[in-house]
Amino acid sequence: MKPSNVILLLLILMHSMLHESRSDLPGSWEVLVHNARIASMHTVVTRFNTVVLLDRTDLSPSEHGYQRYHCNMSLQNPENPEPGPDCFTYSALYDLINPNPRPLTISTDTWCSSGQVLPDGTILHTGGDFDGFRKIRMLNPCEKTSFCDWEELKDIELAQGRWYSTNQILPNGSVIIIGGKDAVSVELFPPKTGGSVVNFPFLADAADDQMDNLYPYVHLLPNGHLFVFANNKSVLYDHTNNVVLKQYPQLEGGPRNYPSAGSSAMLALTGDYSSATIVVCGGAQYGAYNNRDINSPAKSSCGRIEATRKDPVWEMEEMPLPRIMGDMVMLPTGDILVINGAEAGSQGFEMATKPCLHPVLYKPDEPVGTRFTVLKPGTVPRMYHSTANLLPDGRVLLAGSNPHSYYNFSGEFPTELKIEAFSPEYLSPENMLTRPKIVELPEKIRYGDVFYVLVTREIPVMGVPEVNIASAPFATHSFSQGQRVVKLDVSIAWSWRLGLFRLACKAPPDRRVAPPGYYMVFVVYQGVPSVAKWVQLL
Ligand SMILES: *[C@@H]1O[C@H](CO)[C@@H](O)[C@H](O)[C@H]1NC(C)=O
Ligand SMILES: *[C@@H]1O[C@H](CO)[C@@H](O)[C@H](O)[C@H]1NC(C)=O
Ligand SMILES: *[C@@H]1O[C@H](CO)[C@@H](O)[C@H](O)[C@H]1NC(C)=O
Ligand SMILES: *[C@@H]1O[C@H](CO)[C@@H](O)[C@H](O)[C@H]1NC(C)=O
Repeated sequence: MKPSNVILLLLILMHSMLHESRSDLPGSWEVLVHNARIASMHTVVTRFNTVVLLDRTDLSPSEHGYQRYHCNMSLQNPENPEPGPDCFTYSALYDLINPNPRPLTISTDTWCSSGQVLPDGTILHTGGDFDGFRKIRMLNPCEKTSFCDWEELKDIELAQGRWYSTNQILPNGSVIIIGGKDAVSVELFPPKTGGSVVNFPFLADAADDQMDNLYPYVHLLPNGHLFVFANNKSVLYDHTNNVVLKQYPQLEGGPRNYPSAGSSAMLALTGDYSSATIVVCGGAQYGAYNNRDINSPAKSSCGRIEATRKDPVWEMEEMPLPRIMGDMVMLPTGDILVINGAEAGSQGFEMATKPCLHPVLYKPDEPVGTRFTVLKPGTVPRMYHSTANLLPDGRVLLAGSNPHSYYNFSGEFPTELKIEAFSPEYLSPENMLTRPKIVELPEKIRYGDVFYVLVTREIPVMGVPEVNIASAPFATHSFSQGQRVVKLDVSIAWSWRLGLFRLACKAPPDRRVAPPGYYMVFVVYQGVPSVAKWVQLL
């Protein structure tokens, strides 16, 4: 080592010894867009590495939102701020480079809607409020340089209005749309001939006097059935025959869904894919919403259940911080980042205080009591109507936060127009030598097939890297609809000592383990993920 490097190293060591403070906690933050003009309430990453931002659309006219293409401004009625056609749109496409996201056109109200990505990469977006209550919209994403936009379907609509519902793609590529306010039912997209609304009484059973059953947590288990969680109850639901196969034990500690939501994720599927474990963390105290108690402390408890077991039970754990409206983001490593939210109050307008600025990392394979690590705090409160999405480069994009019914930049928690990225510690400069790089990968893979990934690294490989695939979920209201990470079976086909090697990977065995569609493929070496490349799983 050069003398100058030794001095630098000493300085770094001294610096870290002197600053055993919050700023030395793992992770780093950066602002990506200073003024996105909209506070994204719903956010999706596309296979072209762009990001679809979407707020509600009953907010204009105002100086916010984006002016629509081909819009005749003189048709707009400034006297009438009610929902209806105007020249502003509250959706945009962000390419992660240009600080000015490009406007997308949407006119029906998207407030508290739901969505999913279809097998061909099209974003399906359903419901909302007012004129959007039964709307179905599609966006077929495109390269940065070409043009694509929302299409609001005219020929078909939802069989029932859906506001605060949850979507999940099914093994056959259809999407199930579950619940919503006053919607004790499920339906399918594409709809079945003769109508596809089916009653789902579980949702009514789970409701209490402040709802607590909205935006249910829905996970497609590798046995093909759905795990559906609302309030403190959960069931194993056979969507093909509309039968509840099992009621799980109730989760202690009070309600966990809107308006008391914590968050939920399914741990990465691995091994022979026969087991799936669900985690539900945080939430508001029961009554905080009904009593408008904005200082009521949020819960720090998490429940974890192996949903595929015969007689499963909830294992309880404590987060280092209480949190309502957190987002649980599945990282490429299989760890979970819990980020955003508040430490007191409930969901709803003007209903929370004490933003929770510290993300925490959850390492599911560690023993209970040692799974959580507190990470470096951000500076921007991200409370009601904020989102978090994994990016293909391993960072996590954070957008939105608007605890007010309209855009309001005064007061303690102003409407937030900044977009940020949080980089977990795996992206720290020390880890860049370890970071693998994908050189070559097929564009399409078929179920059960062996495929090859060509990877380079600076220094020779010890041990077999992981190859993990991650879906692009529809993030809203502290739950990522359709979020899924699957760890593939990997072996080294050949390696060369200069750090070039070929991995033989086995694609997921069937559509229940990973429904058809586009996935980000990450090579993870010693906990450090590559930049992902997208593949289509067919
Ligand atoms: C815009 O609408 C106004 C009012 O209907 C009409 O007079 C005008 O011609 C329109 N402009 C364009 C460019 O279509
Ligand atoms: C897909 O699966 C659902 C639920 O299991 C079923 O009701 C629907 O008919 C299937 N769709 C197609 C197109 O086969
Ligand atoms: C679940 O919630 C209901 C109220 O909705 C409550 O009566 C019940 O005690 C709760 N269960 C547990 C285990 O806390
Ligand atoms: C903006 O929010 C503040 C604080 O919550 C509130 O006092 C004020 O009335 C709001 N302004 C408008 C125009 O709604």
